[in-house]
Amino acid sequence: MDNQTILDILTQTNEYVSGQALAEQLGVSRQAVWKEIKSLRGLGYDIESVTKRGYRLNSLPKYLNAPAVRASLNTKIIGCELTVLDSVGSTNDYLKRRGAEGCKSGAVAAAREQVNGKGRLGRIWQSKRDENIAFSVLLRPKMAPSEVAPVTPLAGLAVCKALREFTGLDCRIKWPNDVICGRKKLCGILTEMSAEFDAVEYIITGIGINVDQPVFPGEIAYKATSLLLETGRHYDKNKLLACVLNQLEQEFLSNNLELTSTALEEYGSLCATIGKNVTFMRGTRRVSGMAVGVAENGELKIMLSDGSVVTVNSGEVTAQGIY
Ligand code: BTN
Repeated sequence: MDNQTILDILTQTNEYVSGQALAEQLGVSRQAVWKEIKSLRGLGYDIESVTKRGYRLNSLPKYLNAPAVRASLNTKIIGCELTVLDSVGSTNDYLKRRGAEGCKSGAVAAAREQVNGKGRLGRIWQSKRDENIAFSVLLRPKMAPSEVAPVTPLAGLAVCKALREFTGLDCRIKWPNDVICGRKKLCGILTEMSAEFDAVEYIITGIGINVDQPVFPGEIAYKATSLLLETGRHYDKNKLLACVLNQLEQEFLSNNLELTSTALEEYGSLCATIGKNVTFMRGTRRVSGMAVGVAENGELKIMLSDGSVVTVNSGEVTAQGIY
């Protein structure tokens, strides 16, 4: 019997559902229903049973799980297919496989644990089981590969707004798409795509948010932080993930996957890099200037000492005062 099926029925009501009704709806024996209820309880679902009334779901587990995320989700596209994996190498790689198999645009894969998480520039993204949020979203936009650049800054904007709303923290964006609190990183985003020469097949945006991590090892401790470290509070990861997915849909749809003037204005007002002295590499030379804005294609505008403005599209820009 599929776990999801009993959960589907119990999550859709606050009332008791009799063992008989469940068995009939699922086409299985009452004994099979009882066995499944026992296994769900073992997974952390608080299911009450009352003689002559049946079963009622009182609460969902605290760890990341699909029914609890769905309960706070109000999207049309993002999360139309939502999977929460127990353990996976990388949610980006998992969704790549699902993308090749033809999953829908808006499919989301999250995981309680990633054992081979990937960061930008070939780095590793580490996160222990049930401490943080790691998830990816697959989109199938009708666009050319050259047009996908705004997706990542829009995702950064969405996460930043969601975290501000959910926690009250003064989160900011470090260009191009890290979300930071103070001088330290709370969230990283890695976008990958599969494309033909002139058309995108799918884009995968993978997002890692440090939620409950109490310590960061070695050097990373100077650069990274978590919601727990910033607030001293534990947050409900299921509600937080739903809040981020709701905001992602809002940013992606209302801006039509473009950095519209509204998005640029909001991005600019939340971007900690703008107004800072930055250094970056031009060929083999390290150049410095002042970050003055973000262009429609997501590039950072930098004013040099002679007053000219150049744009930088990727790689590492170091902003004074941020890691
Ligand atoms: C970075 O800042 O370097 C990007 C980090 C991206 C991490 C997320 S966690 C979910 C998704 N799966 C991965 O393997 N990476 C991204």
